[in-house]
Amino acid sequence: MQNKLLTAKAALPTYDRNKLVQRIVHLGFGAFHRAHQAVYADILATEHGSDWGYCEVNLVGGEQQIADMKAQDNLYTVAEMSADAWTARVVGVARRALHADVDGLEAVLAAMCEPQVAIVSITITEKGYGHSPATGQLMLDHPFIAPDLKNPHQPKSAAGVIVEALARRRAQGLGAFTVMSCDNMPENGHVTRNVICAYARAVDAELADWIEANVTFPSTMVDRIVPAVTAETLDKIEQLTGVRDPAGVACEPFRQWVIEDNFVAGRPEWEKAGAELVADVVPFEEMKLRMLNGSHSFLAYLGYLAGYQHINDCMEDDNYRRAAHALMLQEQAPTLKVKGVDLAKYADMLIDRYSNPALRHRTWQIAMDGSQKLPQRMLDSVRWHRAHNRDFDLLALGVAGWMRYVGGVDEQGKPIEVSDPLLAVIQQAVKGSAEGEARVKALLGIEAIFGNELPKDEVFVAQVLRAYQALLANGAKATVAQYAAKY
Ligand SMILES: NC(=O)c1ccc[n+]([C@@H]2O[C@H](COP(=O)([O-])OP(=O)(O)OC[C@H]3O[C@@H](n4cnc5c(N)ncnc54)[C@H](O)[C@@H]3O)[C@@H](O)[C@H]2O)c1
Repeated sequence: MQNKLLTAKAALPTYDRNKLVQRIVHLGFGAFHRAHQAVYADILATEHGSDWGYCEVNLVGGEQQIADMKAQDNLYTVAEMSADAWTARVVGVARRALHADVDGLEAVLAAMCEPQVAIVSITITEKGYGHSPATGQLMLDHPFIAPDLKNPHQPKSAAGVIVEALARRRAQGLGAFTVMSCDNMPENGHVTRNVICAYARAVDAELADWIEANVTFPSTMVDRIVPAVTAETLDKIEQLTGVRDPAGVACEPFRQWVIEDNFVAGRPEWEKAGAELVADVVPFEEMKLRMLNGSHSFLAYLGYLAGYQHINDCMEDDNYRRAAHALMLQEQAPTLKVKGVDLAKYADMLIDRYSNPALRHRTWQIAMDGSQKLPQRMLDSVRWHRAHNRDFDLLALGVAGWMRYVGGVDEQGKPIEVSDPLLAVIQQAVKGSAEGEARVKALLGIEAIFGNELPKDEVFVAQVLRAYQALLANGAKATVAQYAAKY
């Protein structure tokens, strides 16, 4: 019987999927990977005869996506949506899909130890690394790292699984693979290298030496807005293609990928599909993290508090749009080292992308895991402004918005479902402090987020406190209007 997806009204794989070689094992088969890296590979296979294929893996959560893939011969739909046009493609580059809890860890490790595997790429969210976002270092006592260190041959964490796979390859006399992070973190390659090497060193020093000498960890800057899939997304895709695809995903038309060209066992010719291969990704990552992700977080906290459910709803409020644009150009752009990019145009393009009414990117989704995001999206820029004695009102307002949000009660008195790996620590700070100045100081005391210098910086503390009190007194809409009035 023909696979239902091959009857979809969509661009279908025109290449021979049987000729694809599983040279990339990807950990984290989430919405983003499906609409980003896999699409690049699909374009390469369709238009350039590439035979680079994927083995897709979920280690934690996402059992259903893997089951869906198995049920439909590893095909799935990606819809690109803009206000006036939707297009769809059926992606065919995944040859296999595995889940560590369903198929067993041994199946995952065996896939990673196939001789031809050249790259292990990861999108496991910022909290999947087991590191401290404030320092970038692996936390050996982290709840999913500590048990793996005691039982390194049966790991559950991504770091543990990667190190065990590398150990087995080394023991079998196979070459190493490249480990490529595609998560939103500054210097994601360096963070990954720190985490993997520190974990390996805690297990076996000789193995750590071998990894340091044989594995590379290129940094990447990834960009494409891919909202979490909802039933409504799947309905829309079905209307477009005529086929119900539970593994389908929808995203904006824009996509960008800047990759540090440092691979130990070869790589696809991603540049043919529009990626930029460069010697140093850091300036591009900083630009994207601070201008895009920083303004996204700002809008997520302050938008949620104001009752805006989606980023495009925030864009319909002139004050929010102006504040986000000013945050990008007045407070983030000056901190950047990137050369050869017109940052004013970049900011305008971001505002256009945020305004796409088809995207419906939830403020609640972006607000998640703030403890892992604030350091690179806002606090590094605050440090730059303090060092240069410049204003950072909007960054302070963004931090205050996060504080108000994690207080757990919205402006109508309704509970907020705060989701964060440091929730217990955050709740302890919230519950142990009175509303107002004491609350601000208690939250600033969380060292894993703010480090130990910023909370002692009187100017920073005063600015955050001023913004926080304005939020308490006047609410988010009026406060954003007040801050935006300057621009
Ligand atoms: N969605 C976007 O617009 C977007 C854009 C740029 C970058 N990203 C990056 O991609 C990441 C994933 O986003 P998404 O939209 O695919 O989210 P998602 O929720 O759809 O998928 C998350 C994936 O991470 C895996 N995961 C979660 N916790 C893990 C853990 N502790 N260990 C191992 N794996 C774990 C899950 O199995 C799942 O595959 C983001 O955190 C971000 O860093 C996303």
